[in-house]
Amino acid sequence: MKAEFWIERWQNGQIGFHQEAFNAHLQNYWPALGLPAEACVFVPLCGKTLDLLWLRSQGHSVLAVEISELAVAAFFRENDLQAQITQEEHFSRWQCAGIDILCGDFFDLQAADVGICDALYDRASLVALPAAMRRQYVRHLQKTMPQQKPHLLVALSYDQNVIDGPPFSVEEAEVRELYAAFKGIKKVFSEDVISGSPHLQKKGLQHLQETVYCLQG
Ligand SMILES: C[S@@+](CC[C@H](N)C(=O)[O-])C[C@H]1O[C@@H](n2cnc3c(N)ncnc32)[C@H](O)[C@@H]1O
Repeated sequence: MKAEFWIERWQNGQIGFHQEAFNAHLQNYWPALGLPAEACVFVPLCGKTLDLLWLRSQGHSVLAVEISELAVAAFFRENDLQAQITQEEHFSRWQCAGIDILCGDFFDLQAADVGICDALYDRASLVALPAAMRRQYVRHLQKTMPQQKPHLLVALSYDQNVIDGPPFSVEEAEVRELYAAFKGIKKVFSEDVISGSPHLQKKGLQHLQETVYCLQG
């Protein structure tokens, strides 16, 4: 899945994944990670998610990465935030109090960029990628955040024979394999949420399992 795919989706307003409210799982299960307020949270493939604001409201500093400049600009504009923009080697860094968004390719991140982070929040990021890229994504995360910091991961699984992604189906077994370096992978929520996705029902999907995992190093 090339960068252009996502850049075009943002240009064409095909952003059905965006939520106009804070994610309920984030609010319910983030406390289970037991992080201090001063922890820095990394949010890969962030889009213009409002969850960055929720994390900041908990006292965290937030570092996020997003490839679409349109998405990053929309995040700041729609939330009445003034961005300070600086150019770095691979990224433009958009900053306001408590939130830094690196605009550029996740795969260009270096350990020096994300090494300061103490935890990670992934909603619709791993599942945005096809299987081979998911492996590269986790490998790159482990290279840049090598110490298995706590993660909250929201994943989806469904019959990939019925529809194609994104979002792609990521089963529990794959999560456990990809994140095998973590000591604890706890499934804290799992429910069929197909009734909330009538557009997928129309395409013939009968089940859509949403599962939330807490990963601890
Ligand atoms: C399915 S959306 C999820 C966005 C966000 N996590 C949310 O919950 O709304 C995936 C996002 O990842 C971004 N993206 C895809 N590939 C990327 C890459 N290689 N580097 C940075 N961002 C990327 C896309 O532009 C898109 O905004």
